[in-house]
Amino acid sequence: MSLAEKDKKYILHPFTPYSAEKQNIPIVKASGEFLYDENGKTYIDAISSWWVNLHGHSHPYINQKITEQLHELEHVMFSGFTHAPAVQLAEKLLAHLHPYYSEIFYSDNGSTAIEVALKMSLQYWKNQGEEKKKFLAFTHSYHGDTFGAMAVSTRDVFTKPFHAHLFHVDFIEIPTEDNLDRNMELLEQLFKEEDIAGFIFEPLVQGAGGMRMYLAEHLDFLLRLCKDYEVLTIADEVMTGFGRTGKMFAIDHLQVKPDILCLSKGLTGGYMPLGITAYASKIAQAFKTDETVKTFYHGHSFTGNPISCVAALASLELFEKENTFEKIENIRSMHLDFADLLDSFDVVENVRVTGSILAFDIKTEYQEYFYTNPIREVLYEFYLQEGILLRPLGNVVYILPPYCINKESLQKVYDVILKSLDLVSSKLTEHG
Ligand SMILES: Cc1ncc(COP(=O)(O)O)c(C=O)c1O
Repeated sequence: MSLAEKDKKYILHPFTPYSAEKQNIPIVKASGEFLYDENGKTYIDAISSWWVNLHGHSHPYINQKITEQLHELEHVMFSGFTHAPAVQLAEKLLAHLHPYYSEIFYSDNGSTAIEVALKMSLQYWKNQGEEKKKFLAFTHSYHGDTFGAMAVSTRDVFTKPFHAHLFHVDFIEIPTEDNLDRNMELLEQLFKEEDIAGFIFEPLVQGAGGMRMYLAEHLDFLLRLCKDYEVLTIADEVMTGFGRTGKMFAIDHLQVKPDILCLSKGLTGGYMPLGITAYASKIAQAFKTDETVKTFYHGHSFTGNPISCVAALASLELFEKENTFEKIENIRSMHLDFADLLDSFDVVENVRVTGSILAFDIKTEYQEYFYTNPIREVLYEFYLQEGILLRPLGNVVYILPPYCINKESLQKVYDVILKSLDLVSSKLTEHG
């Protein structure tokens, strides 16, 4: 049996609908923006391997730092013990953040960083003798696949089998010029009538919900209202963190600082699983008490893993060593030119760019869950055939490249997308 056949026999893969024919592609090596499969075929990783990679695959500096750490300390439990990589990372990360944030909690991935934020918000109120129980979130949000994270995510095809088990959440639309006043009224009414503990949102770009982009100044209006009504605000920067929006964090575009911040994915440069929940000192204070019932009883076996922490430290250092923000600006500027070109195609709508992310919608009549739009499969297969890893979200095509991507590679991604638009036109004609 080949590797792919054994894989198919033994392993269920994430977000991969069953197919009798299709196999997963065995990747044997990766370097920079390139992935290499077992047959020697090269793919440009134009979505940073599910939005995790920043500086390129197998980066020599991160490799070196991880290797050094492996010889010192691979792991130690994080309750009652600590180590230099965890402390250094906390210090370095907090230095990158606004002084409003004073402390962090480690976990393993994006979903767990969200769970921590939700549990901490509820317990923050509880520890102060207040009963605030509900959360507010945006429609089309995606915050992860654990139960709390699913509950604050939009009710859609991903969450459908579990709806009966998800706690109640109030949802509002992301703010636009047109709905801002109405959204503010709705919020004010909710805050007056309900015991809302916190408002969770993906700042500036909603990822899995379709790369929906919105303005920082609009979000600021909502956040000010939350502050007025003492509702905790939780920024899920699992996808937007570490430069994707053109600044280190999407919240750096905001005037109002959210109370809690969730990070993962790019945190380790895309090397190792690690989550961080950072929070303001008022939240930290609520847990600094001798009363053991007020302890934050949450943890994971691999909390604060030293190898993950050194990968994250190395990745942060690379931002300075490699002038990463210049690279991000170059990507953005190429994206803006390409966006102009895309605008001229009939099958394309809503072309949008934020930082290093470009997205657009393919016009289709499909009315079901947007994610299951059949055009997705056609495009995904076409891009792979052409040696590009792009994974449309339903009818939404997006590019979210590692910052190391060179101009030629990015141009190749654009060229293949243009080629795919011909395919789309012919498919849409075929289906009337
Ligand atoms: C905004 C956002 N939050 C949370 C998550 C969940 O992260 P993870 O897949 O690491 O659990 C994701 C994953 O795509 C995400 O995009």
